[in-house]
Amino acid sequence: MCGIVGFTGQENALPILLKGLYSLEYRGYDSAGIAAFTQKGLEVVKTRGRIANLEEKIRETGGLEACCGIGHTRWATHGEPSDRNSHPHLGGKDGKSGEIAVVHNGIIENYLELRERLEAHGYVFQSDTDTETVAHLIDYLHTGKKEDLGMTVLKAVGMLRGSYALGVVSLDDPHEIVAARRANPLVIGLGEGENLIASDVTAIISRTRKYLILDDGEVAIVRPDSVKVMNEFGDTVEKEVQEVTWDLSAAEKGGYEHFMMKEIMEQPQAVANTLHPRIQDGHVVFEDQGLTDERLKKAQHIHIIGCGSALHAGMVGRSVIEELCRVRCQASVASEFRYENPIIEPDDICLVISQSGETADTLAAMRLAKAAGAYTVAIVNVVSSTIAREADGVLYLWAGPEIAVATTKAYSAQLGALYLFAIKLARVRGMLNADEEKTLCEALYKIPEQIGEMLQSKSQMQYIATRYANRSSIFFLGRGLDYAAAMEASLKLKEVSYIHSEAYAAGELKHGTISLIEEGTLVVALATQPALHEKTISNIREVVSRGAEVVLVTSADFDGDTSYCSHVVRLPALPHAFSPSLSIIPLQLLAYYIAVERSCDVDKPRNLAKSVTVE
Ligand code: F6R
Repeated sequence: MCGIVGFTGQENALPILLKGLYSLEYRGYDSAGIAAFTQKGLEVVKTRGRIANLEEKIRETGGLEACCGIGHTRWATHGEPSDRNSHPHLGGKDGKSGEIAVVHNGIIENYLELRERLEAHGYVFQSDTDTETVAHLIDYLHTGKKEDLGMTVLKAVGMLRGSYALGVVSLDDPHEIVAARRANPLVIGLGEGENLIASDVTAIISRTRKYLILDDGEVAIVRPDSVKVMNEFGDTVEKEVQEVTWDLSAAEKGGYEHFMMKEIMEQPQAVANTLHPRIQDGHVVFEDQGLTDERLKKAQHIHIIGCGSALHAGMVGRSVIEELCRVRCQASVASEFRYENPIIEPDDICLVISQSGETADTLAAMRLAKAAGAYTVAIVNVVSSTIAREADGVLYLWAGPEIAVATTKAYSAQLGALYLFAIKLARVRGMLNADEEKTLCEALYKIPEQIGEMLQSKSQMQYIATRYANRSSIFFLGRGLDYAAAMEASLKLKEVSYIHSEAYAAGELKHGTISLIEEGTLVVALATQPALHEKTISNIREVVSRGAEVVLVTSADFDGDTSYCSHVVRLPALPHAFSPSLSIIPLQLLAYYIAVERSCDVDKPRNLAKSVTVE
């Protein structure tokens, strides 16, 4: 949602903070700011717009020379993106000359009530944000008291409802940053004679690979040579030091124009990382995370929860699990699941899918399922993220850092993890014999290589993109697994190109939506399931006869007439259950090239953020 970074050490903090903010920009990018201790005192520069705008403004204002500071890149929740709503916010009666500065990620739910009380004490608010309340509250509790800032922050957060990751600095000690967390991620980077705070490790990795994860309710006092972490009671907590396992180059563009293209091209490796270590001698082998045969046999119902693309992966997983295992399985939108009083039995298994491992709705839905007795298994990319740590078991994707806001490689890796789960479950429940398991495992093992083959459709997709980039609406059609893949393809297109797009179950279109099809409308049709070929083809003919132009994505074995289609893409042969892993590749490329053709900001589409840590 928003990105936070802080640095305290011996060197000039400004380039370190800016670099950290650039690497966090995917979390939100409508405004940015920095507060730093310079010779003039606590200086704040902030602006609407991107980090580049902030850098420019700092240059214009003569730079910031400081060894300690905090920075923020924002995705607006309370108050429009504007200079005055940008973080950091100052605490102090007039909100301008404050001695305290705060950056925040999350939502303070009781901010209006606190704001009223602070206004009654003479505080004048300068912004519409919930965060400014926190800055004034800390100022109110701190001013005139001989108390450490850390203790004051501990008291202040005890009065907050909602979610927060906070970075707080005060003129009291210009080398100290106080950090606090509840339901929003925050890590503390441990350097040599310097320490950092950040929303995630991408912002610290250029300085250090060692870090601590702050847990809910904890407050950290971070100085150049020490880090002290306290729990809600103020007791010191010993934290385990973690180590980043990937290289800085994994979070850089490596010669590509956009992260999205780099990540599309990385898919063979990302999916191999998920699959290959878990396929051994024709069997699916999971690392020990409690998914015992007994548990897999007992489950009456599999719940899958996720948001956006993770949900779409879950929809594919649902079909494959039901097909292979003949067990009831449901894929639910996490934000609905958490409020619909779902029926969960103690033996149920709940697969929780999330690239970031921090999505607020997914986390809340997982907690609900866990409290109801389900066994929760996180399918997560970001190591040690909140969902990964709270789930009963974890299947890491190991897809490497994903920076583009639109997910590609993590989605493909999620499909891989779900196929593995489905095969394992089917085998344990006696729905597959050893030979059948082996055949499926061999096919699964080959998927990364076949994704590589699909990437060769690049120039075809680039050409199609130039032809259709000016359309105002594009439809995606499919049945069964192809419908789930169509949902993902449509989301990819709309989020990066801003073209209106809908995915439809092919048989459903004629019940109303077909009225939108007119001469020249682009329909992307997926027909990769032999059992449904004929049905989907007649639906395609329905739109063609109303003037639609069709791009058909179909399986190797489809031998029907395709002369009425404008373009045809074929998948290499594979078990049809796995075809979503291949059919999505050209459609990711199509979305990318259409967005580039329309000069959209591919990696940072408007209004979006990579990690949605608010409800
Ligand atoms: C779309 C996209 C989003 C995410 C969704 C869930 O390209 O990236 O729809 O899939 O916000 O995010 P995670 O997987 O981090 O829980």
